[in-house]
Amino acid sequence: MASLLCLSLLAAAAAATSPGRLVPFDLLYADGVRAYLARDWARAAELLQRALHSYAGLRAARRACRAACAREEPFPGGPGGWEAALLGPVLQRAGCLQRCLGRRLRPAPSAHRASRAVRRDFERREPYNYLQVAFFQLKKLDQAVSAAHTFFVANPQHLQMREDIEKYRRMSGVKSDSFRDLEATPHWEAYETGVQHYDADEYLQAVARLEESLSEALSALEECRALCEGPWEDEDEEEKMQPGLYEAIAAHYIQVLKCRQQCILEIATKPGRISATEDFIPSHLDLLQFAYSQVGNQTLAAECAASYLLFYPMDEPTLEKMKQYRTELGEDAAVAARQSIQHYVQRSLMEKKLIYYAVEHLGETFNDPDLWTPDELIPENLKEKHREDQEKQKQETLDVEERGKRGPLPFEGIAVTMDSQQMNGTQRVVFDRVLTESECKDLLRLTKAAGEAGDGYRARRSPHTPHERFEGLTVLKAMQLAQNGDVEWRDARLLLQASEKSRKIIESYFTPGKKLHFSFTHLVCRTAVDGEQEGRMDLSHPVHADNCLLDPEGQECWKEPPAYVYRDYSGILYLNDDFQGGGLFFTEMDSVTVTAEVHPKCGRLVAFSSGKENPHGVWAVSRGRRCAVALWYTHSQEHAEQERVKAEELMKQRAVEQDQPDGDKHEGTDRSSRSSSEPRAPSRGTKPADQRQRPGSDRKQHPKVLRARDEF
Ligand SMILES: *[C@@H]1O[C@H](CO)[C@@H](O)[C@H](O)[C@H]1NC(C)=O
Ligand SMILES: *[C@@H]1O[C@H](CO)[C@@H](O)[C@H](O)[C@H]1NC(C)=O
Repeated sequence: MASLLCLSLLAAAAAATSPGRLVPFDLLYADGVRAYLARDWARAAELLQRALHSYAGLRAARRACRAACAREEPFPGGPGGWEAALLGPVLQRAGCLQRCLGRRLRPAPSAHRASRAVRRDFERREPYNYLQVAFFQLKKLDQAVSAAHTFFVANPQHLQMREDIEKYRRMSGVKSDSFRDLEATPHWEAYETGVQHYDADEYLQAVARLEESLSEALSALEECRALCEGPWEDEDEEEKMQPGLYEAIAAHYIQVLKCRQQCILEIATKPGRISATEDFIPSHLDLLQFAYSQVGNQTLAAECAASYLLFYPMDEPTLEKMKQYRTELGEDAAVAARQSIQHYVQRSLMEKKLIYYAVEHLGETFNDPDLWTPDELIPENLKEKHREDQEKQKQETLDVEERGKRGPLPFEGIAVTMDSQQMNGTQRVVFDRVLTESECKDLLRLTKAAGEAGDGYRARRSPHTPHERFEGLTVLKAMQLAQNGDVEWRDARLLLQASEKSRKIIESYFTPGKKLHFSFTHLVCRTAVDGEQEGRMDLSHPVHADNCLLDPEGQECWKEPPAYVYRDYSGILYLNDDFQGGGLFFTEMDSVTVTAEVHPKCGRLVAFSSGKENPHGVWAVSRGRRCAVALWYTHSQEHAEQERVKAEELMKQRAVEQDQPDGDKHEGTDRSSRSSSEPRAPSRGTKPADQRQRPGSDRKQHPKVLRARDEF
């Protein structure tokens, strides 16, 4: 469930909830899409907007009725014992809800139950995707831009929309404040600005924004929880006998409880992202506590610390600070946690207790979304598993720390020029003398020959900058070129060998005893385009991290597709230094604070872990041609590079042929017979950005493929 709480629509929604006005949103949506497909743009825009209003109106009505019915007079007492006492109020609440919704929704509430597919479309802001096209066709640029932006915020992987937005940015009639998010989630905006102020040591502003974020988040949470109460979605309908009265009530109740518990994940997930920020509410309190102490308000700092302790009562640093605040404030100053947080924690604990009871006794399952759930709440049989998970995690942490003790390098003559400390970071290293001068020359010859061979291998504009040309060669492609006689076998083989040598070095240095597989290998040259370097401001490769999506505003790196999340280590093996620029640099998570730089030279291998600890980029190549082997590795066998297996097979085949006395002749026949039946290298790194079902198949926006982000 995505919270599509749209402030600008709420006013309209309130009007739309008066009887007789609220046409079910799925019907409006279907008509809108039909009009869209018929290219009736005006009608499409009108219907789609009405669909969004109706959707917001329905949610508003449900929310309002739940709140109103919660305030009803208690069920009149009387005889009937515990059953009447328990179920009487339930019936009363049900009656109240039915009356309230009946008053607000015409046609009847039961007409407002859209299919799951349509609800998903609304949760993903799909109507805005159609709307932007319709508005554009109607020449209503301002509305087209805000619809495009609203859609893109929730679908940042959507390439077509990215391009459309770029186009809008370049259009002269478009103002920058047209890029509005019509479904903005207020707590995320406040949270990100708050964290930015916090990181910039601007604690007064940080406090204001984080307080705003916390209170918006808590109120969004209430909305999400209210919507959990129904209508009940029957997962696998009809088939089964319906359970008995109490089992049915219990099952529905537990479903609602679990839904409410999951709400924190929705609130803590940035629009357009998949993964929730861990400990979202507690971390607000932790940040606020520190910020308040920095601006000199110990009273509020202590209150935040006390609130934080409700989640983690044994947290040593916070207990320590509590002690300090108590001394500073005087022993008789009352220090208490916030009411709102007490309420939040108590209610959550009550729900968890009930859910875990059902897990233990009713065969339910539960993925607890919180890290702070106290141990004693978790049933014994689950604890076992919980403990194992913790053990495993501890082991992994140990593994990471273990890496401090480096294994011996498996080759003679290689030097560790800089370690993590010298590179002002973690899990970074520079080796020298991995290749000899003559090996660098051979590999450069390979890039030259490959560039001259026809066969589709030609320098093209860099995907990152128009000021550079870009050539890339995979190991398989190199083998195929050798088979065709376009490059020398020994040079192609050297590419295989050099990358394997790098793999062994990196494995033994960072993860001795844990196998690293190739994930992708790419021999890459970047060439400055003559006459296009004047006043150039861009980078050869913008700052990014290799296995997560860097989000500098949020100071986060999202380990989710389309990033290559399974990549664990990255390396660059340099081949030359006769060019200008092209240095590698690492930054903080903000993507602008440079922490270390590495200058390319023949035989230098720089290696680092692929995660958020190592955002990096490449300075512009302003003259000449920079060549290097880009290397990515993974611990995951299933993501091992398949091309490499094929390349090695070709290599072996070649060796066998060489052993035959008339091997040379074979090469001639190879050339003519293979070139046509050659297996084509699969295009790498392309993933459909968008695989969902849409209403209407011949849309303007087809699912797009992402461009390989595989180029250093
Ligand atoms: C801390 O903030 C509270 C609420 O704004 C205020 O009432 C109190 O006076 C402040 N204390 C100090 C020491 O500034
Ligand atoms: C690490 O930081 C120091 C101090 O800012 C700087 O002088 C040094 O060049 C940095 N190291 C690298 C490899 O860039």
